[in-house]
Amino acid sequence: MTTRTRILTGITTTGTPHLGNYAGAIRPAILASQDANADSFYFLADYHALIKCDDPQRIQRSRMEIAATWLAGGLDVNRVTFYRQSDIPEIPELTWLLTCVAAKGLLNRAHAYKASVDKNVESGEDPDAGISMGLYSYPVLMAADILMFNAHKVPVGRDQIQHVEMARDIGQRFNHLFGNGKEFFTMPEALIEESVATLPGLDGRKMSKSYDNTIPLFTSAKDMKDAISRIVTDSRAPGEAKDPDNSHLFTLYQAFASKAQEEEFRGDLLQGLGWGEAKNRLFQLLDGQLGEARERYHQLMSRPSDMEDLLLIGAKKARAVAAPFLAELREAVGLRSFVNQAAAPVATKKKAAKSSRVLSFREGNSFRFRVLAGDGSPLLLSSEFADGKKAGAVIKQLQSGQTLDIRTEAYGFNVWLDGECVAESSSIYADAAQRDAGIEALRVALTPLED
Ligand code: TRP
Repeated sequence: MTTRTRILTGITTTGTPHLGNYAGAIRPAILASQDANADSFYFLADYHALIKCDDPQRIQRSRMEIAATWLAGGLDVNRVTFYRQSDIPEIPELTWLLTCVAAKGLLNRAHAYKASVDKNVESGEDPDAGISMGLYSYPVLMAADILMFNAHKVPVGRDQIQHVEMARDIGQRFNHLFGNGKEFFTMPEALIEESVATLPGLDGRKMSKSYDNTIPLFTSAKDMKDAISRIVTDSRAPGEAKDPDNSHLFTLYQAFASKAQEEEFRGDLLQGLGWGEAKNRLFQLLDGQLGEARERYHQLMSRPSDMEDLLLIGAKKARAVAAPFLAELREAVGLRSFVNQAAAPVATKKKAAKSSRVLSFREGNSFRFRVLAGDGSPLLLSSEFADGKKAGAVIKQLQSGQTLDIRTEAYGFNVWLDGECVAESSSIYADAAQRDAGIEALRVALTPLED
């Protein structure tokens, strides 16, 4: 049993990370992943990238750059599950299951879609001009990302809060429709880091690619230096006192400095430090903190196959969680194997039920039972009951034909009755498929005889 908080976030792979992305998202996420209580899932949201970008070169480049940035920034892939969304086929599969329960009216209200419609209407176009189904369904894909791994916390920017709320909405609806009292999906919460600074860009507005005011992160020291030289300042000459609190250059410095460094820099500005020298100091600070990571970044970029390996390992870890869970969800919606099907023709049922057995036995002072398949192989072992009556009553209920509450746990399963776990699978299976076959066999064994 894990009590760790599962933190999950995706990064859309359409751009090259800049200093603002680093301070605002990457650095805090890497730090958060180092907490012993965190079970972090970080992934490249490359299916989402396809919604915004139809340039394959750019998609590919960005995936590599973002992977290299996170790894160079110190992400420990042994602690964290780091993967590409597109390496997890269970994600689009779950997306479809969720699409079938997501209300169209809910998606009509998504900000990103609405903004595009508004823009079209304003310019006299058809409301849906240029809007793909990908953009429209964006929140469902994101819900699948989140719900697939039962994330508790989802660190995102403010613009994404609505999407996390939609994931809750859609997940809840699925739970309600198919859960039979069971909560398949954990309700996720958006995590907005108030303490994390939004970095100002060269012109003082929020640093953003769309404003063309970014400071590059790992491209080269020279690029970083050049960008810093273009930071807009007031026109006070060297020797004149500067106002640190009204200088975004100071804000940038602050985001990377220790308290002592910050105070020293503040004092020097008040004393009339020239802007040229101030820019130099900012560069030294950033270069000192990011120089080694920049080298790691270029090493990673020059050995893409190493990154490929790491990401495939990440995908394997993620799929070990996703695949058994998806099997359970498929089962829930009625996409089930035809073999040993509980709802199969009566003749099959009779035969199966006849040949299966329930064996009661005593163990010390308690009473237990086993359910055996027709071929004698054990399927289920009950918990210990204080008296034989209770054990008998449980058997009767299990055989009554009511829907069985079977909950998978890794490659085993438990059977629940009235809020109580009453039995467990007789063995731990080798994989999800064998476990699911075991569950099917149990359903058949417990199906009442028809007359
Ligand atoms: N939509 C998010 C963004 O643009 C990226 C993303 C995709 C994501 N799937 C996610 C974030 C799941 C958190 C959880 O920022």
